[in-house]
Amino acid sequence: MTVDLSVTIGNLKLANPVMPASGTFGYGQEYAGLIDLNDLGAIVSKAVSPAPRPGNKPPRMVELKGALLNSIGLQNPGIEGFIEKKIPFLRQFKPPVVVNVVGNSIEEYRQVVEALDAIDRVDGFEINLSCPNVQKGLEFGTTVDGVARITRELRSATKKDLWMKLTPTVPNPGDLGKAAEGEGADALVAINTIGGMTIDAESRRPVLGARFGGVSGPAIKAVALKYVWLLYESVKIPIIGVGGIFNGVDAMEFILAGATAIQVGTANFVNPTAMPDVISQMADWLEEHGESTLQPLIGEAHRTQGAALSIKNH
Ligand SMILES: Cc1cc2nc3c(=O)[nH]c(=O)nc-3n(C[C@H](O)[C@H](O)[C@H](O)COP(=O)(O)O)c2cc1C
Repeated sequence: MTVDLSVTIGNLKLANPVMPASGTFGYGQEYAGLIDLNDLGAIVSKAVSPAPRPGNKPPRMVELKGALLNSIGLQNPGIEGFIEKKIPFLRQFKPPVVVNVVGNSIEEYRQVVEALDAIDRVDGFEINLSCPNVQKGLEFGTTVDGVARITRELRSATKKDLWMKLTPTVPNPGDLGKAAEGEGADALVAINTIGGMTIDAESRRPVLGARFGGVSGPAIKAVALKYVWLLYESVKIPIIGVGGIFNGVDAMEFILAGATAIQVGTANFVNPTAMPDVISQMADWLEEHGESTLQPLIGEAHRTQGAALSIKNH
């Protein structure tokens, strides 16, 4: 049996549901010698802000038990640098390119979206409303009004696909999701890293140069799954699940919770072929379970009654 992993997110047809989580894949060049970017469902860039950002002072990444803590601080080349240095490289690949956008104000987000709307190789925007490790901005991502306002503003700036990446720091993301959906977002992305820190007991100080950072990796998978689950109960637009996905079974858990597609982040640092591996493992999962397409499996855990029959491997 051959399985069909294709999915549709808004106006974008993806050959499979697997894409990089922003910031863990640079702008693609970093991985081009390691994997074939044409195998991916989509290419999601690291954040782009109007002007270049140097990011936070080092150390900016530290490994924890089952997690990564980072405080990169949205380092990026700015709009001009992105157009000059990254777009020519991205032109050679088939999968849709979605640009992760960040700013200190709604106006700054709008500047990035307007500037890149004119670039044919940019197929959509992922709006980062949720980075825990920058000092300013992003607060409008935590209120229904704020999410509605920024979505409305950016919707009027582009006809290209608009994905809103929601903050993981509210108890019920459903209302934020509905606000984005109501203003015309094409999809929701959940979750970003969760704010955290670590202390070195010997030197008695925080390990990260910025003191605080964002926690990612296997430790946040349960949190991300719950967010996807809650969003699925609240909205009709597709949800893209992200958080601690390391293999095909992890990815299928997100699909069953209600995600139409998934992003792989921290796993790329551990295993550079994590994304192609997840794609083939998802195909294997479908085949082994007698399924030929993903569509009927999206959100299936909501439609089954009771708890799991097995508790292994969780
Ligand atoms: C080093 C690093 C840099 C990141 N940079 C961004 C970014 O620029 N924009 C963004 O929206 N999310 C960024 N993220 C968050 C990831 O896209 C993702 O939401 C998060 O890491 C959870 O997924 P994971 O557990 O698979 O890594 C970054 C994460 C890491 C680890």
